[in-house]
Amino acid sequence: MTPYRPAQRLLHWLVALCLPTLLVLGLWMTARAGANLWDEQTNLLYGLHKALGFTVLLLMLLRLFFKLRIAAPTYPASLTPLHILVAKIMHGLLYTLLFVVPLLGWAGVTAYPALITVAGYHLPPMPWVVQNEALAKQLFALHGTLAFVLAALIVCHIAAALVHLFLKRDGVFERMWPSKQTQPR
Ligand code: HEM
Repeated sequence: MTPYRPAQRLLHWLVALCLPTLLVLGLWMTARAGANLWDEQTNLLYGLHKALGFTVLLLMLLRLFFKLRIAAPTYPASLTPLHILVAKIMHGLLYTLLFVVPLLGWAGVTAYPALITVAGYHLPPMPWVVQNEALAKQLFALHGTLAFVLAALIVCHIAAALVHLFLKRDGVFERMWPSKQTQPR
């Protein structure tokens, strides 16, 4: 089975590590903010969330570059056209949300404005976004809602990957696994 390129597999697993961390940070910091706990720890959680979320956006730009330049390896013949269609729709939705969710977060902190992250570093403001606290709150609400939709899709994505690994054993999982045995196309 032909694997993805090593750089594509590395980027996939880096984003995969960032996402649960972002979800936990997001829920933790908003719970503290909801309890009106505005101390150093809350600020640190917000700062880490913003810095890591922005990093995911940059990693996704790299992933998109590879996706547009390199065709995905072909699926095994055992997969039906319907399976392949569902996989493509799922991957399209994941890619879309992996751009839209961090872009909404970035737009929100630009509108608020709250661009400071950790150790005094500020994110660049998103171009063309005006300062408007009411707009920021709407952007954050959409950001949070779509982050939960993204989390639900990721659960389905992991379940499908595990079905390929343990039940179907058709090599689809191994295409993305960072193993030395698989050769790039
Ligand atoms: C894939 C990337 C990201 C994911 C999965 C994610 C996820 C989340 C989650 C789960 C929450 C909590 C929502 C809630 O409790 O209602 C949240 C809140 C928040 N996120 Fe993100 N986030 C991402 C990227 C970003 C980025 C890039 C920024 C800013 C640069 C950002 C800024 C914020 C802020 C400021 C909040 C709090 C909003 C509020 O107080 O209502 N996030 N995020």
